Amino acid sequence: MSKYLLEQRCAEALARQAGKMILRASRGEFEVFAKDGNDVVTEVDRAIEVFIAGELNALFPDDEILGEEYGGVEGHSTQRRWLIDPIDGTLNFTCGVPMSCVSIALQENGVSQVGVVYEPYRNELFSARRGAGALLDGQPMRVSPRTRIDESVLVTGFRPITRDDLPDNLENFVAISKEVRAVRRFGSAALDLAYVAAGRLDGFWEFGLSPWDTGAGYLLVEEAGGRVSDVKNGPYTGFELSILATNAHIHDSLSKRLNL
Ligand code: IPD
Ligand code: CA
Ligand code: CA
Repeated sequence: MSKYLLEQRCAEALARQAGKMILRASRGEFEVFAKDGNDVVTEVDRAIEVFIAGELNALFPDDEILGEEYGGVEGHSTQRRWLIDPIDGTLNFTCGVPMSCVSIALQENGVSQVGVVYEPYRNELFSARRGAGALLDGQPMRVSPRTRIDESVLVTGFRPITRDDLPDNLENFVAISKEVRAVRRFGSAALDLAYVAAGRLDGFWEFGLSPWDTGAGYLLVEEAGGRVSDVKNGPYTGFELSILATNAHIHDSLSKRLNL
């Protein structure tokens, strides 16, 4: 069996099961708790992370885990480490907006080797293994072929809390919006990346994300033929202050237009 294939299959199965938990919960009531600033978390986020982490721990007891809600092994790691975002797009989920997903990545030595994003509302599974390409529902997916920045459709995001040390992305939003066809803001970074990988959008940038937001999505983009860096074209490993992920064609041009 190819290296990491078992891990990819396990991540896919777990993401699908977690997606069922999201769908089921979205039809009923659930508790919402305040986090920092405007950020929220629900009992469903917590239950899903406990479920995924428990299963991974049973399957791969030597691996490290880092999840959004319960943490784990923080900082850079040279080991195998699973990154879990149980619901990416929690605010959408609490509002009944069907734009959220489950994101699971396996990194080794800080580099994503497996990335799975499952969006339960449309039942879409985005999955990649390093060197083996990216798939949408089992079919190969590629980034868009668009080369003209003025025809590109982009997506960005804003952290739920305002932090003085982060650049004001609103300025970028305004400036870039004047130069491209449109800039969207969906509220799920993992899905934004999956959509770039699937060629639905031409590029994505955001500041202040965490490794569990991007660990799966950045591999999807790379394996679908796109490019990922920080917004100033430096290397991206998941711990940088910013991310820029595009179809590769518009990468340099967009990077030059983004201000930190
Ligand atoms: C958030 C989403 C959102 C992004 C925020 C993230 P969460 O993750 O990815 O799109 O703009 O920065 O925190 O809290 O829904 O898992
Ligand atoms: Ca997230
Ligand atoms: Ca989350």
